[in-house]
Amino acid sequence: MKEQSAAGAEQHDLPAQVGQFARDHGQAADFPEHLSRLVLNLLAIRILGHSRVIASPAITAAIERHREVSEKVDLLDVLGLAPQITSDRMRRARGIASSFDDRIREELAHRGDPSVPQVAVSEQRDLIVNLLTGFESVWLTCLWSLLIMGHYPALGDWVRGDGMPGQRRKRLAAIIRETLRLYPPLPFIYREPIEDMDLPVGRVRKGEMICVSPYVVHRHHALWHDPEVFDCNRAAETYQGFPYMPFGLGARRCVGAAAGPELAIEILDGLLADHRPVASGEFPLPRGGMSLRPMGNPAISLERL
Ligand code: HEM
Repeated sequence: MKEQSAAGAEQHDLPAQVGQFARDHGQAADFPEHLSRLVLNLLAIRILGHSRVIASPAITAAIERHREVSEKVDLLDVLGLAPQITSDRMRRARGIASSFDDRIREELAHRGDPSVPQVAVSEQRDLIVNLLTGFESVWLTCLWSLLIMGHYPALGDWVRGDGMPGQRRKRLAAIIRETLRLYPPLPFIYREPIEDMDLPVGRVRKGEMICVSPYVVHRHHALWHDPEVFDCNRAAETYQGFPYMPFGLGARRCVGAAAGPELAIEILDGLLADHRPVASGEFPLPRGGMSLRPMGNPAISLERL
């Protein structure tokens, strides 16, 4: 009960918490890393705040550790697509990937928190995986948005507008929609047909792996007007349904499609209340792995207004 009200208070204080974060870490050389931890903590509070079952410090620590693991594994490593060019690194990465589930279960078994019997262990494991997925996506949405505003200060000024939070949030929503179009955090979605089927691209057999890339679809000249232009003035309908698919489409569409962007808006709103993003160097290229991260360590920080 005590824990519940603490979580409630944290939710309520989110803007203050984010503002404090901006003052404490806005200038850090590894700002993106700090930002990732902020997002993880806020997501744990937001999504799991209604139930104290999972959001124990042991579990958030477990998520952090698993994130470190997942960072070491990139897509080609996991799929092992090129056995002829296999390397120690790839072998290690495959080992890590296959032990991923075991380690989550291990953490759950050892966390020593018998407080909540209403969530089965199998469900706890799923919740952690879901949190991991969602956290990475929200973090990258915030990071790419800050990079875009940092590299194109006019856009940052436009977002700040008249300084009223209402306008800022509305404009941030537009920034996020376009960011998710050009930099969808999950650039590849995989499907495996349960029976042979005919698709516009040809016949696909049961069990074959199909990859749909929101990244490619979102930048396709046949589907978009000036796809490479970051344009916050696209019509609202543009973002409803195909070809806009940062959350996937259909039955397996992201369950956090509403909550994710909402949290990203809140975080960016808190960060930009008294700060402006400043970026240097070239705009980073995206690195397409399990998620769409910026290549290298992008130079981005927050400057007090
Ligand atoms: C901007 C933020 C987010 C983006 C861009 C995003 C994107 C995606 C995408 C592309 C998928 C795959 C959909 C498919 O296979 O068709 C997915 C699935 C999923 N996402 Fe998100 N996501 C975001 C935030 C979140 C959040 C906040 C949560 C929850 C805390 C979450 C939980 C999930 C879950 C559980 C699935 C699997 C759904 C299923 O397989 O049925 N996501 N997300």
